[in-house]
Amino acid sequence: MPVIAVIGAQWGDEGKGKVVDMLAEKAGVVVRFAGGDNAGHTVVNQYGTFGLHLIPSGIFYSHTVCIMGNGMVINPSVLIDEIDQLNRRDVATKQLFISDRAHVIMPYHTLLDGLEEKWRGGKALGTTGRGIGPAYADKVARMGIRTGDLLDKEAFLERLRSILDYKNAILTKVYEVSPLSLDTIYGQYCQYGERLAPYIREITIMLEEALAREELVLLEGAQGALLDPDFGTYPYTTSSSPLAEGSCLGAGLSPTRIDRILGVFKAYCTRVGGGPMPTELGDETGDLLRESGHEYGTTTGRPRRCGWFDAVAARFSSRINGFTGAAITRLDVLDALPRLKICVGYKLNGQTIDYFPSSIAALDRCQPIYEELPGWQVPISHIRDYEQLPVEAQQYVARLEELISCPMNLISVGAAREQTIHKMPIL
Ligand code: GDP
Ligand code: IMO
Ligand code: MG
Repeated sequence: MPVIAVIGAQWGDEGKGKVVDMLAEKAGVVVRFAGGDNAGHTVVNQYGTFGLHLIPSGIFYSHTVCIMGNGMVINPSVLIDEIDQLNRRDVATKQLFISDRAHVIMPYHTLLDGLEEKWRGGKALGTTGRGIGPAYADKVARMGIRTGDLLDKEAFLERLRSILDYKNAILTKVYEVSPLSLDTIYGQYCQYGERLAPYIREITIMLEEALAREELVLLEGAQGALLDPDFGTYPYTTSSSPLAEGSCLGAGLSPTRIDRILGVFKAYCTRVGGGPMPTELGDETGDLLRESGHEYGTTTGRPRRCGWFDAVAARFSSRINGFTGAAITRLDVLDALPRLKICVGYKLNGQTIDYFPSSIAALDRCQPIYEELPGWQVPISHIRDYEQLPVEAQQYVARLEELISCPMNLISVGAAREQTIHKMPIL
């Protein structure tokens, strides 16, 4: 059985949680490979509706092992809450494992996330405030604490003492706020370590064994390609790689092991936080998409910025990820619209371009060039066969498929697991 990476293809919130929950039925293992509790993955199934921030979306199957990979940054308090909430709703977490190499979000990370945003003033990035950027910065600066470190209390104390000395110097001298207490943090994180110890382990051998047993392995992406620090709208990005490339590193798998890369696209575009978004709509169509699609963040509740499908950005995303197939979600949200637009190029400085510029200043100046298609104006959420979709919906999907240049495997017409059209097998 193969390895399939499930990747957010736009600015996040494409419906990765729904797609992974659905595909995980046949999976032996699901690994989340990036981000932390900046993510919010909604899953709607027979247990109810869940907004998962850290735990992989395969957790609802008792036969599926769920791994939080080394590429993640984990806030232990949020994780413990998430485990408790799932258990209270009869979802077992005995198949959950945490890489001992994953980094831990510490109180100074969340504090600094807020202080850095304030420091940026009018140029704030609009982060989720969960300490994600500061935690990844510490990882690269070799100043991080990993989940495995929580299991050796003496060594942890020594490491925390020297890191906290440095962090407190920044907090008091740069930001002029009170220092954090070593005793309090140490006590709290030792407790977290005790609680999470049964879940923390070396992961690479587990994965190798699952592959040797020919189990299906899903790599669950967080965020989306256009939030990638290298290829996204830098600096309005997140701090770990949501790309297929990032899935290898963040799960601990060689690129040669990945068989399929499924790009998850929303049928239109949304974005939360700052940064350019060429097809954003400030008019009543944007409001209609937000309200009919309930486009409010799963993590922060912030209203999402809404706009037409951007095929220039989608092609770029497809190219850098190497998608072998795509899933299109929320097609039903377009049900009421009489006409639909797809952005097929940009006008920049009087010229027509068909590429996604690396500079946010250029992207900000890009004017979308639209192609118009008729809407279908009937409900489609109950439909399960592609041929049953109204011809206008089929035309819309076919045009997206052509523009993204990869086959459309899945079409999602509702939040629930079964509200899915299997257009073409992924494998
Ligand atoms: P993720 O972060 O990529 O997992 O996406 P989110 O969960 O943040 O946002 C996707 C939202 O769309 C959630 O509220 C899902 O329940 C919902 N959703 C997913 N697929 C569909 C669909 O096809 N139709 C509708 N109406 N909602 C969907
Ligand atoms: P899922 O996995 C949408 C955005 C934030 C902000 C930027 C940086 O649910 O698709 P960060 O806290 O990561 O430093 O914020 O990235 N962002 C997301 N937007 N979905 C997400 O995750 C996101 N994770 C981060 O809104 O603009
Ligand atoms: Mg989300």
